[in-house]
Amino acid sequence: MLQVNHIKLSYGPRVILDDISFTVAPGEKAGLIGVNGAGKSSLLKIIGGYQEAERGNIMRPRTYGYLSQDVAHETPVSAHGTVRDFIYSGTGLDAAIAKYEELSMAIADPEIEDLDAALQEFEEAQTALDVLGYYDADARSEQLISGLNIGGVTLDRETLTLSGGQKTKLALVRLLFQAPELLLLDEPTNFLDVEATMWLMEFLETYKGALLIISHDLDLLDNSINKVLRLNEFTHKLEEYKGNYTSYLNAIGDAQALAERTKRQQEREISRLKKTSDRLRGFGATRVKQRIAMDRRISTLEENKPQMAQTSKKMHIDFPVRQQSGHMVVQARELCKSYGQKIIFNDISFLVDRGERMVVIGLNGVGKTTLLRTVLGLVPPTSGKVEIGDRVDISYYAQESEGLDYENTVINEANDVLPTDARRVRSVLGRFLFNGDRVFQKIKTLSGGEKTRLALAKMVLEGSNVLVLDEPTSHLDMMSKEIIGEALGNYSGTILTVTHDVDFVRLLKPTSLLLMPEGRLVPYDSKYDEMLERA
Ligand SMILES: Nc1ncnc2c1ncn2[C@@H]1O[C@H](COP(=O)(O)OP(=O)(O)OP(=O)(O)O)[C@@H](O)[C@H]1O
Ligand SMILES: [Mg+2]
Repeated sequence: MLQVNHIKLSYGPRVILDDISFTVAPGEKAGLIGVNGAGKSSLLKIIGGYQEAERGNIMRPRTYGYLSQDVAHETPVSAHGTVRDFIYSGTGLDAAIAKYEELSMAIADPEIEDLDAALQEFEEAQTALDVLGYYDADARSEQLISGLNIGGVTLDRETLTLSGGQKTKLALVRLLFQAPELLLLDEPTNFLDVEATMWLMEFLETYKGALLIISHDLDLLDNSINKVLRLNEFTHKLEEYKGNYTSYLNAIGDAQALAERTKRQQEREISRLKKTSDRLRGFGATRVKQRIAMDRRISTLEENKPQMAQTSKKMHIDFPVRQQSGHMVVQARELCKSYGQKIIFNDISFLVDRGERMVVIGLNGVGKTTLLRTVLGLVPPTSGKVEIGDRVDISYYAQESEGLDYENTVINEANDVLPTDARRVRSVLGRFLFNGDRVFQKIKTLSGGEKTRLALAKMVLEGSNVLVLDEPTSHLDMMSKEIIGEALGNYSGTILTVTHDVDFVRLLKPTSLLLMPEGRLVPYDSKYDEMLERA
Protein backbone atom coordinates (compact mmCIF):
# COMPACT_ATOMS: atom_id res chain seq x y z
CA MET A 1 0.00 0.00 0.00
CA LEU A 2 1.26 3.45 -0.92
CA GLN A 3 0.28 6.12 1.53
CA VAL A 4 0.99 9.78 0.84
CA ASN A 5 0.43 12.05 3.83
CA HIS A 6 0.17 15.85 3.83
CA ILE A 7 2.83 16.53 1.24
CA LYS A 8 3.70 20.16 0.75
CA LEU A 9 6.13 21.63 -1.77
CA SER A 10 7.01 25.13 -2.93
CA TYR A 11 9.69 26.47 -5.21
CA GLY A 12 10.58 29.82 -3.67
CA PRO A 13 7.35 31.72 -3.18
CA ARG A 14 5.45 29.47 -5.61
CA VAL A 15 3.32 26.81 -3.94
CA ILE A 16 3.21 23.66 -6.07
CA LEU A 17 1.73 21.00 -3.79
CA ASP A 18 -0.51 21.93 -0.88
CA ASP A 19 -1.26 19.28 1.69
CA ILE A 20 -1.57 16.34 -0.67
CA SER A 21 -2.79 13.06 0.80
CA PHE A 22 -3.93 9.90 -0.96
CA THR A 23 -3.40 6.16 -1.11
CA VAL A 24 -2.87 3.63 -3.84
CA ALA A 25 -3.95 0.18 -2.69
CA PRO A 26 -2.28 -3.05 -3.86
CA GLY A 27 -3.37 -3.76 -7.42
CA GLU A 28 -4.95 -0.34 -7.81
CA LYS A 29 -4.14 1.61 -11.01
CA ALA A 30 -4.11 5.36 -10.60
CA GLY A 31 -3.57 7.98 -13.31
CA LEU A 32 -2.12 11.33 -12.22
CA ILE A 33 -3.27 14.15 -14.49
CA GLY A 34 -3.00 17.93 -14.62
CA VAL A 35 -1.85 20.71 -16.92
CA ASN A 36 1.80 21.31 -17.85
CA GLY A 37 3.65 22.63 -14.84
CA ALA A 38 0.99 21.61 -12.30
CA GLY A 39 3.57 19.61 -10.33
CA LYS A 40 2.87 16.02 -11.37
CA SER A 41 6.50 15.06 -11.94
CA SER A 42 7.55 16.75 -8.70
CA LEU A 43 4.97 14.73 -6.78
CA LEU A 44 6.06 11.48 -8.40
CA LYS A 45 9.71 12.22 -7.61
CA ILE A 46 8.83 12.83 -3.99
CA ILE A 47 6.92 9.55 -3.87
CA GLY A 48 9.83 7.73 -5.49
CA GLY A 49 12.24 9.25 -2.97
CA TYR A 50 14.11 11.32 -5.56
CA GLN A 51 13.09 14.68 -4.16
CA GLU A 52 12.42 16.09 -0.69
CA ALA A 53 9.08 17.55 0.31
CA GLU A 54 8.82 20.48 2.69
CA ARG A 55 6.35 18.67 4.83
CA GLY A 56 4.54 15.35 5.02
CA ASN A 57 5.64 11.78 4.66
CA ILE A 58 5.34 8.76 2.40
CA MET A 59 4.77 5.12 3.32
CA ARG A 60 5.88 2.96 0.43
CA PRO A 61 5.34 -0.71 -0.32
CA ARG A 62 8.33 -2.99 0.14
CA THR A 63 9.31 -2.85 -3.53
CA TYR A 64 8.68 0.00 -5.92
CA GLY A 65 10.28 1.41 -9.03
CA TYR A 66 10.31 4.81 -10.73
CA LEU A 67 10.87 5.95 -14.29
CA SER A 68 11.53 9.64 -14.91
CA GLN A 69 9.91 11.80 -17.62
CA ASP A 70 13.38 12.95 -18.57
CA VAL A 71 14.82 9.47 -18.75
CA ALA A 72 16.61 10.41 -21.98
CA HIS A 73 18.81 12.80 -19.98
CA GLU A 74 19.04 10.73 -16.85
CA THR A 75 19.30 7.37 -18.50
CA PRO A 76 20.81 5.03 -15.97
CA VAL A 77 22.08 2.54 -18.56
CA SER A 78 25.64 1.78 -17.55
CA ALA A 79 28.47 2.18 -19.97
CA HIS A 80 29.66 -1.39 -19.63
CA GLY A 81 28.14 -4.83 -19.71
CA THR A 82 25.49 -6.49 -21.78
CA VAL A 83 21.82 -5.78 -22.12
CA ARG A 84 21.20 -8.89 -19.99
CA ASP A 85 23.46 -7.62 -17.17
CA PHE A 86 21.67 -4.32 -17.21
CA ILE A 87 18.18 -5.80 -17.06
CA TYR A 88 19.18 -8.28 -14.38
CA SER A 89 20.82 -5.61 -12.26
CA GLY A 90 17.34 -4.36 -11.44
CA THR A 91 16.72 -7.28 -9.13
CA GLY A 92 20.30 -8.17 -8.20
CA LEU A 93 20.09 -11.24 -10.42
CA ASP A 94 23.35 -10.27 -12.15
CA ALA A 95 25.24 -10.37 -8.85
CA ALA A 96 23.56 -13.64 -7.86
CA ILE A 97 24.67 -15.25 -11.13
CA ALA A 98 28.23 -14.00 -10.69
CA LYS A 99 28.32 -15.43 -7.18
CA TYR A 100 26.92 -18.76 -8.38
CA GLU A 101 29.50 -19.01 -11.13
CA GLU A 102 32.29 -18.16 -8.77
CA LEU A 103 31.19 -20.85 -6.31
CA SER A 104 30.79 -23.51 -8.95
CA MET A 105 34.37 -22.82 -10.03
CA ALA A 106 35.47 -23.07 -6.42
CA ILE A 107 33.90 -26.46 -5.73
CA ALA A 108 35.30 -27.82 -8.95
CA ASP A 109 38.77 -26.96 -7.67
CA PRO A 110 40.42 -30.19 -6.36
CA GLU A 111 42.49 -28.23 -3.86
CA ILE A 112 39.49 -26.72 -2.13
CA GLU A 113 39.95 -26.40 1.64
CA ASP A 114 36.53 -26.65 3.20
CA LEU A 115 34.34 -28.52 0.73
CA ASP A 116 31.34 -28.84 3.09
CA ALA A 117 31.15 -25.13 3.70
CA ALA A 118 31.57 -24.42 -0.02
CA LEU A 119 28.78 -26.86 -0.91
CA GLN A 120 26.53 -25.23 1.63
CA GLU A 121 27.22 -21.84 0.11
CA PHE A 122 26.72 -23.20 -3.36
CA GLU A 123 23.30 -24.51 -2.41
CA GLU A 124 22.35 -21.13 -0.99
CA ALA A 125 23.46 -19.45 -4.20
CA GLN A 126 21.28 -21.87 -6.14
CA THR A 127 18.27 -21.05 -3.98
CA ALA A 128 18.93 -17.37 -4.53
CA LEU A 129 18.79 -17.89 -8.29
CA ASP A 130 15.49 -19.74 -7.92
CA VAL A 131 14.01 -16.99 -5.85
CA LEU A 132 15.09 -14.35 -8.37
CA GLY A 133 13.45 -16.28 -11.20
CA TYR A 134 16.68 -17.11 -13.00
CA TYR A 135 15.22 -19.89 -15.14
CA ASP A 136 12.72 -17.85 -17.07
CA ALA A 137 14.59 -14.56 -16.79
CA ASP A 138 15.89 -14.61 -20.37
CA ALA A 139 12.47 -15.45 -21.75
CA ARG A 140 10.81 -12.69 -19.74
CA SER A 141 13.43 -10.16 -20.80
CA GLU A 142 13.02 -11.06 -24.45
CA GLN A 143 9.27 -10.70 -24.16
CA LEU A 144 9.62 -7.21 -22.73
CA ILE A 145 12.17 -6.21 -25.37
CA SER A 146 9.91 -7.33 -28.18
CA GLY A 147 6.82 -5.84 -26.55
CA LEU A 148 8.44 -2.43 -26.43
CA ASN A 149 9.61 -2.84 -30.01
CA ILE A 150 13.33 -2.39 -29.39
CA GLY A 151 14.34 -3.65 -32.80
CA GLY A 152 17.51 -5.68 -33.12
CA VAL A 153 18.45 -5.65 -29.46
CA THR A 154 19.62 -9.03 -28.16
CA LEU A 155 20.46 -9.89 -24.58
CA ASP A 156 24.14 -10.33 -25.39
CA ARG A 157 24.54 -6.93 -27.00
CA GLU A 158 26.84 -4.45 -25.23
CA THR A 159 24.77 -1.54 -23.88
CA LEU A 160 27.52 0.77 -25.14
CA THR A 161 26.39 0.17 -28.71
CA LEU A 162 22.74 1.13 -28.18
CA SER A 163 21.17 4.33 -29.49
CA GLY A 164 19.75 6.92 -27.13
CA GLY A 165 16.19 5.85 -27.85
CA GLN A 166 17.01 2.20 -27.26
CA LYS A 167 18.64 2.99 -23.93
CA THR A 168 15.55 4.88 -22.83
CA LYS A 169 13.33 1.92 -23.62
CA LEU A 170 15.76 -0.44 -21.96
CA ALA A 171 15.40 1.53 -18.73
CA LEU A 172 11.67 0.80 -18.92
CA VAL A 173 12.35 -2.88 -19.66
CA ARG A 174 14.51 -3.15 -16.56
CA LEU A 175 11.82 -1.58 -14.43
CA LEU A 176 9.08 -3.87 -15.76
CA PHE A 177 11.40 -6.85 -15.31
CA GLN A 178 11.70 -6.01 -11.60
CA ALA A 179 7.91 -6.25 -11.34
CA PRO A 180 7.78 -4.19 -8.13
CA GLU A 181 4.68 -3.95 -5.94
CA LEU A 182 4.31 -0.35 -7.09
CA LEU A 183 5.24 1.12 -10.46
CA LEU A 184 5.74 4.89 -10.69
CA LEU A 185 5.80 5.97 -14.35
CA ASP A 186 6.14 9.53 -15.64
CA GLU A 187 4.80 9.79 -19.21
CA PRO A 188 6.35 6.52 -20.37
CA THR A 189 4.63 6.56 -23.76
CA ASN A 190 6.36 9.74 -24.94
CA PHE A 191 9.22 7.72 -26.32
CA LEU A 192 7.17 4.78 -27.58
CA ASP A 193 5.52 4.28 -30.95
CA VAL A 194 1.86 3.35 -31.13
CA GLU A 195 2.41 -0.39 -31.21
CA ALA A 196 4.63 -0.32 -28.15
CA THR A 197 2.17 2.00 -26.43
CA MET A 198 -0.66 -0.46 -27.04
CA TRP A 199 1.47 -3.27 -25.71
CA LEU A 200 2.33 -1.26 -22.60
CA MET A 201 -1.33 -0.41 -22.07
CA GLU A 202 -2.25 -4.08 -22.03
CA PHE A 203 0.72 -4.96 -19.88
CA LEU A 204 -0.28 -2.36 -17.29
CA GLU A 205 -3.92 -3.37 -17.38
CA THR A 206 -3.06 -6.88 -16.23
CA TYR A 207 -0.12 -5.93 -14.06
CA LYS A 208 -0.39 -7.53 -10.64
CA GLY A 209 1.14 -4.70 -8.66
CA ALA A 210 -0.14 -1.19 -8.13
CA LEU A 211 0.42 1.60 -10.62
CA LEU A 212 0.72 5.36 -10.41
CA ILE A 213 1.18 6.80 -13.87
CA ILE A 214 1.40 10.31 -15.32
CA SER A 215 0.15 10.53 -18.87
CA HIS A 216 -1.46 12.86 -21.37
CA ASP A 217 -2.47 9.83 -23.45
CA LEU A 218 -6.25 9.62 -23.24
CA ASP A 219 -6.41 6.05 -24.56
CA LEU A 220 -4.07 4.89 -21.89
CA LEU A 221 -5.99 6.76 -19.23
CA ASP A 222 -9.17 5.11 -20.44
CA ASN A 223 -7.84 1.59 -20.63
CA SER A 224 -5.18 1.03 -18.03
CA ILE A 225 -6.37 2.80 -14.92
CA ASN A 226 -9.27 2.68 -12.45
CA LYS A 227 -8.72 5.87 -10.52
CA VAL A 228 -8.00 9.44 -11.61
CA LEU A 229 -5.98 11.80 -9.43
CA ARG A 230 -6.15 15.34 -10.77
CA LEU A 231 -3.64 17.84 -9.54
CA ASN A 232 -5.52 21.14 -9.52
CA GLU A 233 -3.22 23.93 -10.74
CA PHE A 234 -5.17 26.61 -8.87
CA THR A 235 -5.64 25.05 -5.46
CA HIS A 236 -2.49 22.85 -5.68
CA LYS A 237 -4.55 20.08 -4.14
CA LEU A 238 -5.38 16.64 -5.41
CA GLU A 239 -8.88 15.62 -6.50
CA GLU A 240 -9.75 11.97 -6.58
CA TYR A 241 -12.23 10.28 -8.95
CA LYS A 242 -13.16 6.60 -9.24
CA GLY A 243 -12.97 5.03 -12.66
CA ASN A 244 -11.15 5.84 -15.89
CA TYR A 245 -10.70 9.11 -17.74
CA THR A 246 -14.11 9.09 -19.39
CA SER A 247 -15.89 8.63 -16.09
CA TYR A 248 -13.73 11.42 -14.70
CA LEU A 249 -14.93 13.70 -17.50
CA ASN A 250 -18.52 12.77 -16.74
CA ALA A 251 -17.99 13.44 -13.07
CA ILE A 252 -16.46 16.87 -13.54
CA GLY A 253 -18.99 17.67 -16.25
CA ASP A 254 -21.79 16.98 -13.75
CA ALA A 255 -20.09 18.87 -10.95
CA GLN A 256 -19.61 21.82 -13.27
CA ALA A 257 -23.24 21.74 -14.39
CA LEU A 258 -24.42 21.51 -10.80
CA ALA A 259 -22.24 24.42 -9.75
CA GLU A 260 -23.51 26.51 -12.63
CA ARG A 261 -27.12 25.78 -11.74
CA THR A 262 -26.62 26.65 -8.08
CA LYS A 263 -24.87 29.82 -9.03
CA ARG A 264 -27.69 30.96 -11.29
CA GLN A 265 -30.27 30.26 -8.59
CA GLN A 266 -28.32 32.21 -6.03
CA GLU A 267 -27.89 35.13 -8.36
CA ARG A 268 -31.63 35.26 -8.94
CA GLU A 269 -32.22 35.16 -5.18
CA ILE A 270 -29.69 37.92 -4.62
CA SER A 271 -31.29 40.25 -7.14
CA ARG A 272 -34.74 39.57 -5.64
CA LEU A 273 -33.44 40.40 -2.15
CA LYS A 274 -31.77 43.54 -3.43
CA LYS A 275 -35.01 44.80 -4.86
CA THR A 276 -36.77 44.19 -1.55
CA SER A 277 -33.97 45.89 0.31
CA ASP A 278 -34.31 48.94 -1.95
CA ARG A 279 -38.03 49.03 -1.36
CA LEU A 280 -37.44 48.86 2.39
CA ARG A 281 -35.08 51.79 2.12
CA GLY A 282 -38.04 53.79 0.80
CA PHE A 283 -39.75 53.29 4.13
CA GLY A 284 -36.96 55.16 5.89
CA ALA A 285 -36.09 54.59 9.54
CA THR A 286 -39.16 52.46 10.35
CA ARG A 287 -37.88 49.40 8.49
CA VAL A 288 -34.18 49.77 9.14
CA LYS A 289 -33.88 46.51 11.12
CA GLN A 290 -35.47 44.42 8.37
CA ARG A 291 -33.27 46.10 5.82
CA ILE A 292 -30.09 45.28 7.74
CA ALA A 293 -31.20 41.65 8.03
CA MET A 294 -31.90 41.56 4.30
CA ASP A 295 -28.46 43.00 3.47
CA ARG A 296 -26.81 40.48 5.72
CA ARG A 297 -28.57 37.68 3.88
CA ILE A 298 -27.35 39.10 0.56
CA SER A 299 -23.77 39.22 1.65
CA THR A 300 -23.86 35.64 2.98
CA LEU A 301 -25.22 34.49 -0.35
CA GLU A 302 -22.51 36.42 -2.18
CA GLU A 303 -19.84 34.85 -0.04
CA ASN A 304 -21.15 31.35 -0.61
CA LYS A 305 -21.34 31.52 -4.37
CA PRO A 306 -20.05 28.24 -5.72
CA GLN A 307 -16.47 28.36 -6.90
CA MET A 308 -16.59 27.97 -10.63
CA ALA A 309 -13.78 26.03 -12.24
CA GLN A 310 -11.26 28.60 -13.29
CA THR A 311 -9.85 28.29 -16.74
CA SER A 312 -6.10 28.24 -17.14
CA LYS A 313 -4.21 31.17 -18.45
CA LYS A 314 -4.20 30.88 -22.19
CA MET A 315 -1.33 31.31 -24.52
CA HIS A 316 -1.84 33.74 -27.37
CA ILE A 317 0.72 33.05 -29.98
CA ASP A 318 1.51 33.18 -33.62
CA PHE A 319 4.58 32.20 -35.55
CA PRO A 320 5.73 35.14 -37.67
CA VAL A 321 7.92 34.96 -40.74
CA ARG A 322 10.55 37.67 -40.89
CA GLN A 323 11.33 37.23 -44.55
CA GLN A 324 9.78 34.80 -47.02
CA SER A 325 11.92 32.23 -48.76
CA GLY A 326 12.13 31.67 -52.47
CA HIS A 327 9.55 29.47 -54.13
CA MET A 328 11.47 26.20 -53.90
CA VAL A 329 12.29 25.27 -50.31
CA VAL A 330 13.70 21.73 -50.25
CA GLN A 331 14.41 19.36 -53.07
CA ALA A 332 15.50 15.88 -52.03
CA ARG A 333 16.77 13.60 -54.77
CA GLU A 334 17.15 9.83 -54.36
CA LEU A 335 18.23 10.04 -50.76
CA CYS A 336 19.71 6.90 -49.25
CA LYS A 337 21.07 6.43 -45.79
CA SER A 338 22.69 3.37 -44.32
CA TYR A 339 24.87 2.68 -41.34
CA GLY A 340 27.21 -0.11 -42.38
CA GLN A 341 25.05 -2.93 -43.71
CA LYS A 342 21.87 -1.50 -42.24
CA ILE A 343 19.79 0.50 -44.69
CA ILE A 344 17.76 3.17 -42.91
CA PHE A 345 15.97 4.49 -46.00
CA ASN A 346 16.40 4.11 -49.69
CA ASP A 347 15.62 6.28 -52.71
CA ILE A 348 13.55 9.05 -51.17
CA SER A 349 12.75 12.00 -53.42
CA PHE A 350 10.45 14.92 -52.77
CA LEU A 351 9.99 18.59 -53.44
CA VAL A 352 8.66 21.03 -50.87
CA ASP A 353 7.50 24.44 -52.07
CA ARG A 354 6.99 27.58 -50.04
CA GLY A 355 3.95 27.44 -47.77
CA GLU A 356 3.60 23.67 -47.92
CA ARG A 357 3.26 21.55 -44.81
CA MET A 358 4.64 18.07 -45.15
CA VAL A 359 4.05 15.44 -42.46
CA VAL A 360 6.40 12.45 -42.44
CA ILE A 361 4.73 9.30 -41.19
CA GLY A 362 5.89 5.74 -40.61
CA LEU A 363 6.52 3.27 -37.80
CA ASN A 364 9.10 3.79 -35.10
CA GLY A 365 12.58 3.04 -36.34
CA VAL A 366 11.99 3.65 -40.07
CA GLY A 367 14.32 6.63 -39.88
CA LYS A 368 12.01 9.64 -39.80
CA THR A 369 14.33 11.58 -37.49
CA THR A 370 17.32 10.58 -39.61
CA LEU A 371 15.51 11.83 -42.71
CA LEU A 372 14.84 15.22 -41.12
CA ARG A 373 18.43 15.44 -39.96
CA THR A 374 19.65 14.56 -43.45
CA VAL A 375 17.51 17.31 -44.94
CA LEU A 376 18.98 19.73 -42.38
CA GLY A 377 22.51 18.67 -43.31
CA LEU A 378 23.20 17.39 -39.80
CA VAL A 379 23.69 13.87 -41.14
CA PRO A 380 25.34 13.28 -44.53
CA PRO A 381 23.33 11.02 -46.87
CA THR A 382 25.00 7.82 -48.07
CA SER A 383 23.94 8.82 -51.55
CA GLY A 384 21.56 11.31 -53.11
CA LYS A 385 21.32 15.04 -52.71
CA VAL A 386 19.46 17.68 -50.77
CA GLU A 387 19.08 21.11 -52.25
CA ILE A 388 17.91 24.00 -50.09
CA GLY A 389 16.26 26.97 -51.80
CA ASP A 390 17.10 30.67 -51.75
CA ARG A 391 16.58 32.74 -48.59
CA VAL A 392 15.51 29.65 -46.68
CA ASP A 393 16.14 29.88 -42.96
CA ILE A 394 15.22 26.96 -40.80
CA SER A 395 14.30 26.44 -37.13
CA TYR A 396 14.53 22.89 -35.85
CA TYR A 397 12.66 21.33 -32.93
CA ALA A 398 14.60 18.18 -32.06
CA GLN A 399 12.84 15.31 -30.35
CA GLU A 400 13.96 14.78 -26.75
CA SER A 401 16.73 17.36 -26.49
CA GLU A 402 14.54 20.22 -27.82
CA GLY A 403 17.79 21.99 -28.67
CA LEU A 404 17.95 23.67 -25.25
CA ASP A 405 21.00 24.29 -23.08
CA TYR A 406 19.95 22.81 -19.73
CA GLU A 407 22.36 24.98 -17.73
CA ASN A 408 20.99 28.22 -19.17
CA THR A 409 18.12 30.25 -17.71
CA VAL A 410 14.91 30.80 -19.66
CA ILE A 411 15.65 34.47 -20.25
CA ASN A 412 19.25 33.93 -21.36
CA GLU A 413 18.26 31.17 -23.73
CA ALA A 414 15.68 33.46 -25.33
CA ASN A 415 17.94 36.55 -25.34
CA ASP A 416 20.57 34.63 -27.25
CA VAL A 417 18.10 34.32 -30.11
CA LEU A 418 17.27 38.02 -30.27
CA PRO A 419 19.89 39.92 -28.24
CA THR A 420 18.86 43.29 -29.66
CA ASP A 421 15.27 43.45 -28.50
CA ALA A 422 14.81 42.69 -24.81
CA ARG A 423 11.23 43.91 -24.80
CA ARG A 424 10.14 41.61 -27.56
CA VAL A 425 11.89 38.70 -25.84
CA ARG A 426 9.98 39.34 -22.60
CA SER A 427 6.73 39.77 -24.44
CA VAL A 428 7.09 36.52 -26.40
CA LEU A 429 8.12 34.63 -23.26
CA GLY A 430 5.03 36.04 -21.55
CA ARG A 431 2.85 34.74 -24.33
CA PHE A 432 4.25 31.27 -23.66
CA LEU A 433 3.37 31.78 -19.97
CA PHE A 434 6.87 32.56 -18.71
CA ASN A 435 6.03 35.60 -16.61
CA GLY A 436 7.72 37.54 -13.82
CA ASP A 437 10.47 35.69 -12.02
CA ARG A 438 9.74 32.51 -13.92
CA VAL A 439 12.06 33.75 -16.69
CA PHE A 440 15.05 33.37 -14.36
CA GLN A 441 14.39 29.68 -13.85
CA LYS A 442 17.11 27.22 -14.92
CA ILE A 443 16.06 25.22 -17.95
CA LYS A 444 16.93 21.90 -16.35
CA THR A 445 14.28 22.55 -13.70
CA LEU A 446 11.48 23.25 -16.18
CA SER A 447 8.71 20.69 -16.51
CA GLY A 448 8.45 18.60 -19.68
CA GLY A 449 5.72 20.74 -21.23
CA GLU A 450 7.48 23.97 -20.24
CA LYS A 451 10.65 22.90 -22.07
CA THR A 452 8.60 22.36 -25.20
CA ARG A 453 6.94 25.75 -24.77
CA LEU A 454 10.33 27.42 -24.45
CA ALA A 455 11.70 25.69 -27.55
CA LEU A 456 8.65 26.93 -29.48
CA ALA A 457 9.00 30.44 -28.04
CA LYS A 458 12.54 30.49 -29.43
CA MET A 459 11.12 29.62 -32.84
CA VAL A 460 8.73 32.55 -32.64
CA LEU A 461 11.69 34.83 -31.86
CA GLU A 462 13.72 33.40 -34.70
CA GLY A 463 10.96 34.21 -37.19
CA SER A 464 12.31 31.63 -39.61
CA ASN A 465 10.48 30.78 -42.79
CA VAL A 466 10.85 26.99 -42.45
CA LEU A 467 10.04 24.96 -39.34
CA VAL A 468 11.33 21.42 -39.02
CA LEU A 469 9.55 19.75 -36.11
CA ASP A 470 10.25 16.29 -34.72
CA GLU A 471 7.36 15.09 -32.52
CA PRO A 472 6.70 18.52 -31.03
CA THR A 473 3.57 17.62 -29.06
CA SER A 474 4.52 14.66 -26.89
CA HIS A 475 4.92 16.58 -23.61
CA LEU A 476 2.10 19.07 -24.16
CA ASP A 477 -1.21 19.04 -22.30
CA MET A 478 -4.40 19.13 -24.38
CA MET A 479 -4.92 22.86 -24.25
CA SER A 480 -1.35 23.84 -25.15
CA LYS A 481 -1.42 21.35 -27.96
CA GLU A 482 -4.52 22.94 -29.41
CA ILE A 483 -3.22 26.48 -29.14
CA ILE A 484 0.16 25.64 -30.63
CA GLY A 485 -1.41 23.47 -33.32
CA GLU A 486 -3.69 26.29 -34.33
CA ALA A 487 -0.86 28.83 -34.39
CA LEU A 488 1.18 26.53 -36.61
CA GLY A 489 -1.88 25.99 -38.80
CA ASN A 490 -1.84 29.74 -39.49
CA TYR A 491 1.91 29.94 -40.08
CA SER A 492 2.71 31.42 -43.48
CA GLY A 493 6.07 29.68 -43.89
CA THR A 494 6.85 26.06 -44.69
CA ILE A 495 6.61 23.13 -42.27
CA LEU A 496 8.22 19.70 -42.31
CA THR A 497 7.20 17.61 -39.36
CA VAL A 498 7.25 14.14 -37.88
CA THR A 499 4.27 13.40 -35.67
CA HIS A 500 1.82 10.62 -34.92
CA ASP A 501 -0.66 12.88 -33.21
CA VAL A 502 -3.82 12.97 -35.29
CA ASP A 503 -5.36 15.92 -33.45
CA PHE A 504 -2.24 17.91 -34.12
CA VAL A 505 -2.20 16.97 -37.80
CA ARG A 506 -5.80 18.17 -38.20
CA LEU A 507 -4.89 21.56 -36.76
CA LEU A 508 -1.80 21.75 -38.92
CA LYS A 509 -3.77 21.25 -42.14
CA PRO A 510 -0.94 19.53 -44.01
CA THR A 511 -0.69 19.74 -47.76
CA SER A 512 1.10 16.42 -48.14
CA LEU A 513 2.18 13.26 -46.34
CA LEU A 514 5.44 11.45 -46.92
CA LEU A 515 4.91 7.76 -46.23
CA MET A 516 8.00 6.01 -44.91
CA PRO A 517 9.78 3.73 -45.59
CA GLU A 518 8.69 3.64 -49.24
CA GLY A 519 9.02 7.42 -49.57
CA ARG A 520 5.69 7.89 -51.36
CA LEU A 521 4.31 11.43 -51.34
CA VAL A 522 0.52 11.71 -51.15
CA PRO A 523 -1.87 14.60 -50.64
CA TYR A 524 -3.32 14.72 -47.13
CA ASP A 525 -6.64 12.97 -46.72
CA SER A 526 -8.40 11.83 -43.55
CA LYS A 527 -8.26 8.26 -44.84
CA TYR A 528 -4.65 8.31 -43.64
CA ASP A 529 -5.65 9.11 -40.07
CA GLU A 530 -5.57 5.49 -39.05
CA MET A 531 -2.14 5.03 -40.57
CA LEU A 532 -1.02 8.17 -38.78
CA GLU A 533 -2.16 6.83 -35.47
CA ARG A 534 -0.21 3.66 -36.04
CA ALA A 535 2.89 5.57 -37.02
N1 LIG B 1 14.03 23.43 -8.98
C1 LIG B 1 12.99 24.17 -9.37
N2 LIG B 1 12.98 25.51 -9.16
C2 LIG B 1 11.94 26.27 -9.53
N3 LIG B 1 10.84 25.79 -10.13
C3 LIG B 1 10.79 24.48 -10.38
C4 LIG B 1 11.86 23.60 -10.01
N4 LIG B 1 11.52 22.36 -10.38
C5 LIG B 1 10.30 22.45 -10.94
N5 LIG B 1 9.85 23.72 -10.94
C6 LIG B 1 8.56 24.19 -11.45
O1 LIG B 1 7.51 23.55 -10.76
C7 LIG B 1 6.39 23.32 -11.63
C8 LIG B 1 5.99 21.87 -11.57
O2 LIG B 1 6.92 21.09 -12.28
P1 LIG B 1 6.65 19.58 -12.67
O3 LIG B 1 7.80 19.11 -13.47
O4 LIG B 1 6.33 18.83 -11.44
O5 LIG B 1 5.33 19.73 -13.59
P2 LIG B 1 4.47 18.64 -14.38
O6 LIG B 1 3.09 18.69 -13.82
O7 LIG B 1 5.15 17.35 -14.38
O8 LIG B 1 4.40 19.27 -15.86
P3 LIG B 1 4.54 18.58 -17.34
O9 LIG B 1 3.18 18.08 -17.71
O10 LIG B 1 4.88 19.75 -18.21
O11 LIG B 1 5.59 17.57 -17.28
C9 LIG B 1 6.84 23.77 -13.01
O12 LIG B 1 6.30 25.05 -13.27
C10 LIG B 1 8.36 23.86 -12.91
O13 LIG B 1 8.89 24.86 -13.75
MG1 LIG C 1 6.11 16.24 -15.84
